[in-house]
Amino acid sequence: MACHRWLCISLLLLLLLSLASQSCHALHSFGFDIHHRFSDPVKEILGVHDLPDKGTRQYYVAMAHRDRIFRGRRLAAGYHSPLTFIPSNETYQIEAFGFLHFANVSVGTPPLSFLVALDTGSDLFWLPCNCTKCVHGIGLSNGEKIAFNIYDLKGSSTSQPVLCNSSLCELQRQCPSSDTICPYEVNYLSNGTSTTGFLVEDVLHLITDDDKTKDADTRITFGCGQVQTGAFLDGAAPNGLFGLGMSNESVPSILAKEGLTSNSFSMCFGSDGLGRITFGDNSSLVQGKTPFNLRALHPTYNITVTQIIVGEKVDDLEFHAIFDSGTSFTYLNDPAYKQITNSVSNLDFS
Ligand SMILES: *[C@@H]1O[C@H](CO)[C@@H](O)[C@H](O)[C@H]1NC(C)=O
Ligand SMILES: *[C@@H]1O[C@H](CO)[C@@H](O)[C@H](O)[C@H]1NC(C)=O
Ligand SMILES: *[C@@H]1O[C@H](CO)[C@@H](O)[C@H](O)[C@H]1NC(C)=O
Ligand SMILES: *[C@@H]1O[C@H](CO)[C@@H](O)[C@H](O)[C@H]1NC(C)=O
Ligand SMILES: *[C@@H]1O[C@H](CO)[C@@H](O)[C@H](O)[C@H]1NC(C)=O
Ligand SMILES: *[C@@H]1O[C@H](CO)[C@@H](O)[C@H](O)[C@H]1NC(C)=O
Ligand SMILES: *[C@@H]1O[C@H](CO)[C@@H](O)[C@H](O)[C@H]1NC(C)=O
Ligand SMILES: *[C@@H]1O[C@H](CO)[C@@H](O)[C@H](O)[C@H]1NC(C)=O
Repeated sequence: MACHRWLCISLLLLLLLSLASQSCHALHSFGFDIHHRFSDPVKEILGVHDLPDKGTRQYYVAMAHRDRIFRGRRLAAGYHSPLTFIPSNETYQIEAFGFLHFANVSVGTPPLSFLVALDTGSDLFWLPCNCTKCVHGIGLSNGEKIAFNIYDLKGSSTSQPVLCNSSLCELQRQCPSSDTICPYEVNYLSNGTSTTGFLVEDVLHLITDDDKTKDADTRITFGCGQVQTGAFLDGAAPNGLFGLGMSNESVPSILAKEGLTSNSFSMCFGSDGLGRITFGDNSSLVQGKTPFNLRALHPTYNITVTQIIVGEKVDDLEFHAIFDSGTSFTYLNDPAYKQITNSVSNLDFS
């Protein structure tokens, strides 16, 4: 469910990909391991554009320098406990909703809970709200009906509409004046899939992940989704979408800007469909790292894969891929597609 608007911002953010932890099986289910390579954006981070040739001693000296800069920045930023959602850090893969991963988030005063899809392919967090066209509930195969909560501005004492003069208002040109409510519209890659409404601000209920002792309720901006279309009316993300992308409007970016967490998050998806999500997690020594291929306009979690391992067969093959938790398919172009399918069909299962 990658975001389709190309008007975002270059944020030099490092996401900690939980590649190495034993509880993270998601990447293994793709059937290949990912190996990193230093990419062009590293030069931007360093502020140098004439990086020494790869493989030379000067190259590694430059890379060590880069690592020191990152470590220094982390220490200077101070340590904050990682945060997660109230009531819990659990995520669930739900078959009926397109096999996406969901979290139970609680918003507003008094708190209302929503089962939102977690989408690294888009930025805005939106909830069904003041609805013209929303999913109000679903019927299960056993005849049981589940009713979803719908966010209501009037029902939450901490709710406030976001005005057109806000820095997070991207559709300012559609505003009649700066003191009107900011509208939003997001179109997604799935055919005819969109959400439209206006921006609101309210409390997102968070808690420290490690000891669960400290509430960290935070005011965030999100979309009051009045009209949903396409896949959103047809099963996918029926109760809201939680954008985890890099732009300023995503919740991880808001938490970092408020100084509550470092600009990172981690998700682990287990093979049983259960998982975890944490904001402001810092890397552990056992984690693998890979840089993102950042573009100034609309940065995404775009990585370079350099090697594919199927069974015992190791192939060096370089291609780019985007981590998009909002789609349940892995798409590959040739030659990577041919190479992987050939390797899989040549596997000896005896
Ligand atoms: C987060 O997950 C861990 C297990 O990995 C669990 O022990 C902990 O209680 C969870 N924290 C919250 C706030 O749910
Ligand atoms: C979500 O959490 C709330 C408590 O905050 C709980 O009442 C509700 O049953 C949970 N919903 C789901 C679908 O787990
Ligand atoms: C909800 O939407 C209706 C139109 O669909 C609008 O008239 C009303 O002002 C909206 N409510 C709020 C609180 O924005
Ligand atoms: C936006 O306008 C409102 C009312 O006109 C004002 O109270 C508020 O401070 C302004 N916000 C910003 C970010 O300028
Ligand atoms: C997208 O939806 C339209 C209208 O429903 C349909 O005509 C078109 O073939 C669809 N395109 C794709 C790529 O599925
Ligand atoms: C996004 O945030 C960064 C850092 O706070 C800021 O420099 C940039 O101007 C913001 N971009 C927009 C479009 O608001
Ligand atoms: C993050 O870093 C801090 C300070 O270095 C350390 O105390 C903490 O245990 C780390 N947390 C995690 C989850 O690795
Ligand atoms: C991913 O990054 C590579 C290298 O910068 C670029 O060629 C490719 O177009 C990017 N892919 C997408 C979908 O942005």
